[in-house]
Amino acid sequence: LSPPYVLKADGLAAGKGVLIPETLEEAKSLLKEMLADAKFGDASSKVVIEEHLKGMELSVFVLTDGISYKILPSAKDYKRIGEGDSGLNTGGMGAISPVPFADRFFIEKVEREIIIPTIKGLVEEDIDYKGFIFIGLMVENGSPKVIEYNVRMGDPETEVVIPRIKSDLLNLFRGIGNGSFSEIDFDVSEEVAATVMLVSGGYPESYEKGKEITGFDEVEDSVMFHAGTKSSDDRILTNGGRVLSITSFGKDIDEALNKSFKNAEKINFEGKYYRKDIGFDLWWSVFFSSFSETKHFANPNYKESKNYKHVKVVNIVTK
Ligand code: GLY
Repeated sequence: LSPPYVLKADGLAAGKGVLIPETLEEAKSLLKEMLADAKFGDASSKVVIEEHLKGMELSVFVLTDGISYKILPSAKDYKRIGEGDSGLNTGGMGAISPVPFADRFFIEKVEREIIIPTIKGLVEEDIDYKGFIFIGLMVENGSPKVIEYNVRMGDPETEVVIPRIKSDLLNLFRGIGNGSFSEIDFDVSEEVAATVMLVSGGYPESYEKGKEITGFDEVEDSVMFHAGTKSSDDRILTNGGRVLSITSFGKDIDEALNKSFKNAEKINFEGKYYRKDIGFDLWWSVFFSSFSETKHFANPNYKESKNYKHVKVVNIVTK
C-alpha cells in the first residue's frame, strides 16, 4: 500500500474509529495505540488496514424486501468537525440531498454495478434480509467504489433523505411485511434538502452537557431533529455532542442551506458550534454543468427521481 493509510477499528466506535495516517511511521504508532493501548476500547482490538481511496463520498440508500428493491434519494454527509473537511471525524455535521453529481445516469451505474449484485449476493448466500441497505461510496472520475455497507439508514443523511420521501414510508414498511413491497410506488420531492448539525463546544472531544437551548419559537421554515437534548422542567437542555439538526428545503442547495443557517443563528446555547461550509465541495458539479452536453448537471434539482416510479424486481438467482 502507498500512503496515506486507512486504519479502521473493526468494532463500533460511534463513527470515529477511522484514522488516516500520512506516513508509515505514524501508521505504525497509531496501530500500536489501537491494538495495544485500546485507543477505541474493545472496538480496536481488531484493526482493518485499507487502501486510501480518493474522490467524493456519497451515501446511497436502498430499501429491500430481500428480492426486490427501491433506490431511495442519495445524500452527501460532512463528517469532519472543521470547515473544509478538517479535524476529527464526528457522527456527522450536515448533509445534502440530492447530490448534483449523483444524477440519474450515475445512479443507474451504481444500480448495475453495485445494487443489483448486492441484492443477488444476499439471495445467493441465503441471507433473508429485509430493510435498509446503506452503501457508502467513494466516487472518483464517475466511478463508484464501495467503502462500506450498513444495515441501517445514515445519520445525518436520514434528516435529508426521509423528508424528501413524499409517500407514506410506513406503507413501504408494511409492504415489506406483507409481501406487496414490489407493487408499491413512492414519490420523492424534487426540492433540495439540506441539514446543518448544531454541536456542543469541544465535540467530538470532551464537551459539557446541560446547557439551556433557547430560540425554538423563532425558527421558521425548517424542521428540527433533536439528537442530544433532554427536557428538564419546562426547559430543553443539551445532552450530547450532536445536539440538533436543522433541515430545510429549497429550489437549490443555496436556498435550502441558507434557511438552515439562518435558523442555526436563532437557536442559542453556550458553546454552540456548527459548520458554515456544508455543501462547499458541491459547487463545481453545478458550475461544470454549464459545459455538459446533456445539461443534466445544469440544475441541482435534476430529475434524480425519474426512475423511482418503476418497480425493479431482481431475478432470483439459482444457487
Ligand atoms: N453518516 C454516516 C453514517 O451514518 O454512518
